[in-house]
Amino acid sequence: MSAHKEAWGSRVGLVLAMAGNAVGLGNFLRFPAQAIQNGGGAFIIPYLICFLLMGIPLLFVEWSMGRFGGRFGDHSTPFILNSVSGGKRAWWKYVGVFGIFTNLAVAAYYCYLESWTLAYVWRSISGAFAGNDAAAVSQMFTDYVSLGTSEPIVFWIICLLLNTWILSRGLAGGVEVAAKVGMPLLIFFGVFLAVRGITLTAGEAGAVYDGTEGLNFLWTPDFSSIWDFKVWLAAAGQVFFTLSVGMGSIQCYASYLRQRDDVALNAMSAGWMNEFVEVVLGAAILIPISVGYLGIERVVELTQTGGLGLGFRTLPYLFQQWGPILAALAGMAWFGLLFFAGVTSSLAMGTPVMGFLRDEFGWRRERAAWAFGALVFILGAPTVFFFSYGVFDEYDYWAGSVSLVVFAMFEIILFAWVFGMDNAWAEINRNADMKVPVIYKYIIKYVTPVILICVFFGSLLSSGGILDKIANKDLHAQIAAATDPAQVTELEKTLTFVNGSRLLLVVIFALIALLVYLAQRKRNREGRVPIPSRE
Ligand code: TRP
Repeated sequence: MSAHKEAWGSRVGLVLAMAGNAVGLGNFLRFPAQAIQNGGGAFIIPYLICFLLMGIPLLFVEWSMGRFGGRFGDHSTPFILNSVSGGKRAWWKYVGVFGIFTNLAVAAYYCYLESWTLAYVWRSISGAFAGNDAAAVSQMFTDYVSLGTSEPIVFWIICLLLNTWILSRGLAGGVEVAAKVGMPLLIFFGVFLAVRGITLTAGEAGAVYDGTEGLNFLWTPDFSSIWDFKVWLAAAGQVFFTLSVGMGSIQCYASYLRQRDDVALNAMSAGWMNEFVEVVLGAAILIPISVGYLGIERVVELTQTGGLGLGFRTLPYLFQQWGPILAALAGMAWFGLLFFAGVTSSLAMGTPVMGFLRDEFGWRRERAAWAFGALVFILGAPTVFFFSYGVFDEYDYWAGSVSLVVFAMFEIILFAWVFGMDNAWAEINRNADMKVPVIYKYIIKYVTPVILICVFFGSLLSSGGILDKIANKDLHAQIAAATDPAQVTELEKTLTFVNGSRLLLVVIFALIALLVYLAQRKRNREGRVPIPSRE
C-alpha cells in the first residue's frame, strides 16, 4: 500500500489555512482573558519574549519536520517522528501519539464551543437579546450550557456535520476554501469591532470609560511581573495554544507541502498573521468594550473563569446599548468571527487524525472524515452533557495545555539533538524563500529546549500545577471548606467526573498508542520501509 496523494492547491491557500489553524478562539477569548488575569501590561512582555524564543523556533521546527515527514508519505506525528529519528528508536513513534491525542481531545470540546458561537450568531440576528437586562442575558448563557432546551445539541450536531463535510472534501477543495472565505471575513468583522472598541467614548451609549482605558491597561508596560513565575507560565501556555504548536496539526498541514516548497517564509507569514490577529485585533475588542462599560476591576473579576463568560454573557448585553441595528450587526460580527476562527482551527484538528487513518489503514478520505466526526461526537458528548461538572475544563487542561508542552519538549530534542542541529538547520533552509537569522540556529539548539524544560518543570511543581491537579488539591480544599451538605454532594460529584474524564483521556491515549503499534506491525508485514518519494 502506498501513501495517499494529496497536496495544497496554492501558496495563498496554504498560508491562509495555516493561519486559520492558528487563529482560533484562543486569539479572541483566551488571550484577552489571560492578559487581564495576569496584569495587562505585565503580561505582554513575557508573552512577546515567549513568542520570539519559543513560538517562532517551534514554528520552524514543526513546519520542517512536517515537510520532511511528507517526503516519506507520513502525515501524522507518530510516523513523522519515526522518520525524523531515522527509524532507529521505536519509542519516538509513541511520543508522536500526543500529536493525535491532543487533536482529538481538543476537538472534542472545541467543536462544542464552536457551536455556541453559531447559536449566538443566530440569537444576535433574531434579536433574542433585545430588551433584556444584564442579568437576563447572562442567564441565557447559563440556561444554554445547562441544556434547558435542545438548541445546544442541534447547533453542536450542525457544527460537527459541517466540519466533517469540509474535511471530506479534502485540503484543496475543502480546508483551503474554508480558509479563503473565513479568514478575510474574520479580519473584516474584527476590524469593524476593533474600530468600534477603540472609538468608544465615555458617556456615549452608556459607556463609563473611553475604549482606550482598557487598551492602556494592556499596553502600559509593567515590569513588576518579570519575576513572577506564574505570569511566565501563563504567557508560555498562551503562545502554545494560539500558535497551535506542540499539537501535531502544523506538522500534519506541512506534510502536505511539496518538497520544493519553502517552509521558512510560509511559517513566518502564518505565524505573524496569527500575532497580528491576536495582539492587534484580539486585544482591541473584548477588552476595550468591556472595560469601557464595567471598569478594569470588574473585568478582572469576570475573567476569573476565562474569557467565555465575558464573551458570551457580557458582550451581547453591552452591544444592546448601541441600538437595535448596530447591536445585531455587532453580535453577528463578534460571534461570526469567533465561528470562522473556530472552524478553521477544528479542521486543523481533524486532518492529523485523518492522515493517520489514511496512511496506515488505507482508508478513503471520506471514510476518515466521518470517523473523525464520529469520534468527536463520542468524546465530545461528556463535555456537552456534564459541562457543569468540569469535564470541559479537564479536557482543556490536559489535552489543551499540558500535552502541548510535553510534546514540544520531546520534538525539539529529537529535531535539534537526535536528528542533529546541522541537519535540522539544512532542513529549515532547504528551498527557503527568506534567510532565517543564524541566531535561530542557536536558539533552537539551546535556548528553546531549556525554556521548554523550565516550563515543564514549572508547570509540574508550581502551586496549582500538574501535581496539585492530580491530587485534586483544589477540589478537596473546597470540599473541606463547604458547610452546606448539598454543596458537598455537588463537589463530590464533580470530583468523580473530573477523575472519570482523566481516566477516559488516558484510555484514549492508550488506544491511539495501540493503533500505532498495530500500524507498525502492518508496515513490517508489508515490508514498508521509509523510502523518500521523489518529486
Ligand atoms: N490555535 C487555536 C486557537 O488559538 C487552537 C488550535 C488549533 C488547536 N489547532 C489545534 C488546539 C490543534 C489543539 C490542537 O484557538
